[in-house]
Amino acid sequence: MTDKKRILTGDRPTGKLHLGHYVGSLANRIRLQHEYESIFIIADLHMLTTKNSKEEIAEIDKNVRDLVLDSIASGIEPQNVTFYLQSGIPEIHEIYTLLQNIVTVSRLERIPSLKDMARAANIEMPFGLLGYPVLQSADILHVKAHLVPVGKDNIAHIEITREIARRFNYLYGEVFPEPDGLVGDVPTLIGTDGQAKMSKSLNNAIMLSDDPKTVEKKVRGMFTDPNRVRADIPGTVEGNPVFIYHDAFNPNIAEVDDLKARYREGTVTDVEVKEKLTIAINTFLAPIHARREQYMETGLVDEIIVEGTEKVREITRATLFEMKKAMGLTGVWNRIKRKAEERAKKKEKA
Ligand code: TRP
Repeated sequence: MTDKKRILTGDRPTGKLHLGHYVGSLANRIRLQHEYESIFIIADLHMLTTKNSKEEIAEIDKNVRDLVLDSIASGIEPQNVTFYLQSGIPEIHEIYTLLQNIVTVSRLERIPSLKDMARAANIEMPFGLLGYPVLQSADILHVKAHLVPVGKDNIAHIEITREIARRFNYLYGEVFPEPDGLVGDVPTLIGTDGQAKMSKSLNNAIMLSDDPKTVEKKVRGMFTDPNRVRADIPGTVEGNPVFIYHDAFNPNIAEVDDLKARYREGTVTDVEVKEKLTIAINTFLAPIHARREQYMETGLVDEIIVEGTEKVREITRATLFEMKKAMGLTGVWNRIKRKAEERAKKKEKA
């Protein structure tokens, strides 16, 4: 291991990633992958907190590969970043159990994201979903991470993680650093339909793997200024999805400024603004697609996951042992075991 500080971050394997993931968190992860020792979790067990039918679980398998593929395609270099599958490290659950007792139910009930998730899944709050941020804390703390680049909706979970780390250190001695959360330049990217958040389930997302024709179609159907029924009516740029996307994905600032100026004057058509946006997004996605193809062909993704999981499991084991030692748990077990062994030996002799 190096003396670099550590990043622990990751996602639930919900499927392919979209532009919102990129600007919300992935860009930070790509930018910081050399400065920090980076470990990425594929949080398949977190999926079960809202989806646990057999059909839904079967989906996870494919999603795991898509998640890793999309991350690598976007610029995460597998020689720098260690990926691991959460369910491949059972010790994480032991750590989760140890942490459950230093956070209260009422503290967890105050986290709005959990209620939102239950509502979106149309289910009553399961016990496991209430524990979601505690399991996430175990994910983060078991590698003693310093930084957690995530989407905005995860920041409340990082706050809980900090509280749990502080509480553990206070009760049992200094074991964990308090990790910082980090959110991207566009914390929540608006959807193509103008809804607050881009999301695959809301059907308003442009996926990183969308081909040029699909991007063109999605951009053409994008929500703009609804008051601008003709191109010669001055339009509003602020909060307008097409311009938010231009700002985020079109590197040609002069072109974007010109389009905005003419939009405000009523001297540009929506069609032109959207055509230029389509070109910008497709140009942004082209190298991502090329890398995706390359990795898909080599079939290396499975190896990356297995090797990474085995490597991280060593870290988990060491942390778990350190926690139990700090808590005074190892002593109990060892003493009982030693006594039992002594007794067995005496019996043998007798
Ligand atoms: N909660 C994250 C999501 O919304 C997934 C996740 C699980 C995670 N454990 C983590 C993120 C640890 C960062 C760090 O998909």
